[in-house]
Order: sequence, then structure tokens, then C-alpha cells
Amino acid sequence: MTYRTIDDMFEPGTLVQLTDLWTPALARYRDRPAVVIDIEVLGYPRSITRQVNGTSVSEKYDCIYTVALLPVEPAASLAREQVPVIRLISLDVAGILPAEPQSSEFAAWCAREFCGAEPAFVANPSAAGNGRFIGAAVLPHTIPMYEARHRPNDHRNKSLVAIEQVRRHLEQWQPDVIVLASTHWMPRDGFFIDDGAQHHDGCDASYQGVEPQLFSFPGDPELATLIGGLAHGAGLPVRRIHRVAQEHAVWVPGHLLCQERRIPLLPCSIWWRGPREAHRRFGEIIAQAVRRLDRRAFFVASGGLSHTFDFSKPPEYVVPQGERFDRLAQEWLERGQHGRLLDMSEDDFETWNPEGRAGHLYMMRGALGQDVRGQSLCYHGSNGTGYLTMLFQS
Ligand SMILES: [Fe+2]
Repeated sequence: MTYRTIDDMFEPGTLVQLTDLWTPALARYRDRPAVVIDIEVLGYPRSITRQVNGTSVSEKYDCIYTVALLPVEPAASLAREQVPVIRLISLDVAGILPAEPQSSEFAAWCAREFCGAEPAFVANPSAAGNGRFIGAAVLPHTIPMYEARHRPNDHRNKSLVAIEQVRRHLEQWQPDVIVLASTHWMPRDGFFIDDGAQHHDGCDASYQGVEPQLFSFPGDPELATLIGGLAHGAGLPVRRIHRVAQEHAVWVPGHLLCQERRIPLLPCSIWWRGPREAHRRFGEIIAQAVRRLDRRAFFVASGGLSHTFDFSKPPEYVVPQGERFDRLAQEWLERGQHGRLLDMSEDDFETWNPEGRAGHLYMMRGALGQDVRGQSLCYHGSNGTGYLTMLFQS
């Protein structure tokens, strides 16, 4: 078996064969044709080990697939409710399944139903309004960080305390909506925006494959529709989608920031390997839609800074070349010099190796619409990577 990197993953719409080699609980689904409908990129390879004849065999995976399964009972026409959806690690996918008439028809249906659609045309793209982004925050998001609430000695509690400060600001500022850019949602063909009215876990509840999906948020379909239409009209590659499952870069910050207040949350992707400038432009278009619809919006850039992992050192370690650029980025953002991030040389950028290729930071600047100065609430290392929590008020 080969380790598949994110540059070598199965695209949404692909018909795949599952295996229970690594996840025995998957046996019940193993023989069902499955279609990849969504991908979460974790950002670094994680190991999983199994026993084979008394020896340990380890492999790595670095993404999580959401797959739809062909229903057991044949039906004349399909509906979302009849189609079980589960999340699994990339090692649970054995390979591409040869297409049979029934399964390829199912794959085509899944592509239409689950993999996004072109946004509708917006008739009057320049209409005025008074909405705006009242602020933004950069923050990290890991699952262990969320669980760190229950681990008093976890180094990531520092970030949790800082995120709690952001939450208290939101309590005062009362935004109508949070637009969240996720660095784990990295399609290669452009930006995606979730136009669902309600975000909740739509996976088969009887299968606990990857992690609990502890979220339930209202969305903002009107805003998402307008953003999609405006971005489409501006020539950006963008698709709208109502995701069946979110990933933790969306729901952990959402959960920590909203808690019981149920602020509408609008998740959007970054564009894997898309130009930096396109991210900023997409952020500007998001702000344009916010203005038109008179929303008081808050932007969350969900992701870390440098993203080179090293588990061999103490938990708060940051790889030195990453930390050097993290400190620079932090200083630039504190001074409101967002353009310096945009203008970094390719060499410096690759040395820095930011999470999500910093797409979340460029989008944030576009959404803010000006060079707002950031207030650092926390910076620390985490297994080689850099975690920054920073608040922007505009
Ligand atoms: Fe992450």
C-alpha cells in the first residue's frame, strides 16, 4: 500500500473501493460502492498501526474523506435521506472502483447532489448597502485543543484562553454572522462556499468512523448565495455546496466562539495552490456581499501560522525557520502591514510553510478591506507548528 499525499488524493465524484484493513468497523460498508464527496486535508501525515501475524505494520494518511454509499435497497429515484454518508481516513480507500452501470449512475448523481454547483447569476452586482466586517480573528483549531479544556496541563490551553477572549468580544460586538475560512478545506479547483441553512452532522450516526461531529449551527444561505454569485461574476472559480459533514477547522472554532448563542456561521474553503491575490479578491467579494445585505459580520481565519511538524521535541516547540517567519508575520499583522505577507518571496514563503498556504490570512485582509492592525492575544508552538491568536477590530 502506498502513502497517498494530498497531491495524490481521490477527487470528489470518484467511485472508490473501501477496505476494512485499517478500520475493522468498516467491514459492514466494505462491499458497497462508495463515492468521495468531500475531503478534509489534515496538513501532515498521521500514522496508524495494525498487527499482522504478530508484527506491527504502520502506514500514514493525511486526509479524511467523506463518502456516500450506494443504498442497499434499489430505488427509482435517489434522495439525500436514503444515502448513507460516512467519514473515513484515506487508508480506508483501497483504490478506484471499476464503473458498473448502476454504480457509475450513482457516482454521477453524487457529483450533482453533493459535490457543489455553479452559483446563480447576480443581476445587479453593484447595489449599495451598509453592512461591513466589524472585526476578524486568526486562531488555531485542533481537536486536541478543543479537548484541552479537560486537560489542565495541555500547552494548548493558552490558545483556548485567547479564543475565550475573542468570544467575549463577540458577545459585546454581536455580529449577525461569522464567515469562517477553513485551512482544512482545500479544493484544487477553486473556492467553495457552504450555503446550507443549517450545518449539522449529516453522517450515518450508527458509524463512529473518525471523530464525533460536535456541531450544529445555523448558516446564512442568503449571504452565501450572493457571495457565490458575485465571485462567479468576477471570474473567480467558485462553487456553492451544502456540506453533509464539516471538519474540525470549522466546527471547533465555531463551537468555541458561538457556544449557546448560535450565531449564523458561513464556512468557506481556501483554494489549494490558488494565487495569493485571488484569496484577497475573494475576501473583498465576501465583504461586498456583506455590505449589500447590511450584515454586521465577523471573519474567522481558522488556521495556524508555520506548519512544519516535529513531534520529537517538547509540545511547545516551533521549528526555528517557521518561528522566524511567524514572528515576522505577527509583527506585520500587528502593524497592519498585510501587504508584506502578500509580497513575500517564494523562497521565504516555502521556508515559512504556513498552514493552508496562508489563504485564510489573505482572505481575511480582503474581507477587512483595509490594513487593520491586529492585537496579539497568544502565540506559542505546538509540535513544531506555530499557533497565533490575533484579534482585529475595524
Ligand atoms: Fe489545522
